[in-house]
Amino acid sequence: MASLRAALGSSVALCLLSVTGAWMPVPRPAVMPMAAARSSHRASDIRAETPFRTDDQFDYFRRKKSVSVTLSKPLGAVLGEAAPAGVKIEEMQEGGSAAESGLLKKGDRLIEILDADVSTSDFDSVMSMLIDAPEEVALKIERNVIIKKPKEVKPDPVLTIKGGPSGDVAMGSSLRLTIQSSGVDLYKGMNKLTNCGGAGQCSLCMVDVVEGSENLSPLTAVEQKRLAKKPPTYRMACQALIEGDVTVEIP
Ligand code: FES
Repeated sequence: MASLRAALGSSVALCLLSVTGAWMPVPRPAVMPMAAARSSHRASDIRAETPFRTDDQFDYFRRKKSVSVTLSKPLGAVLGEAAPAGVKIEEMQEGGSAAESGLLKKGDRLIEILDADVSTSDFDSVMSMLIDAPEEVALKIERNVIIKKPKEVKPDPVLTIKGGPSGDVAMGSSLRLTIQSSGVDLYKGMNKLTNCGGAGQCSLCMVDVVEGSENLSPLTAVEQKRLAKKPPTYRMACQALIEGDVTVEIP
């Protein structure tokens, strides 16, 4: 939404500046210590959410942070309409307590003035409250911030072949290719020559999943058809991806 200043023209801005006295010298502002700032989010909320950006080391999340500050008049803050409602800081004038203290930032949305809820108030109402406020004005604002959290590093899954080797494998590896690369014979006798090469057509790659069946990718449509009369612990190695620790036996 366009700022009120933009919507109504320069007269509004001039009015505001004269009210907040942005062009007047200001005394040293009395402000609340930064330690008084309060955050409305919890670390546990972040873990349950998909990051909007990610890199090799961090996941990035958008958050709204609630901050309480006390500033001296004149604030030197130019206000405009916020979306979907209320009023936000459009810019700060040099010499005002908002800019001098560094406690307000462009885009901050006013939530409370002297403990009165202004989160949905219109521009004129907010201006009236600021004009009537004492020299020291307690404000509560809402700020958009970006939080980065170190990525959780999951250990590689372990594949154990009963009667054979056990070791780490890359997450998402093909069960068939991993068994073959371990040196264990997945196919017996002539099946080594007649298997379909992982196309899901021969059913010669069946394994019995002894532990960790939940750590394999879900049954494919091919498996649902070809394993219908097999024990429920059987999987076709060419169809299954390893997503966690699993132990298999070659029947
Ligand atoms: S290798 Fe043929 S079905 Fe798996």
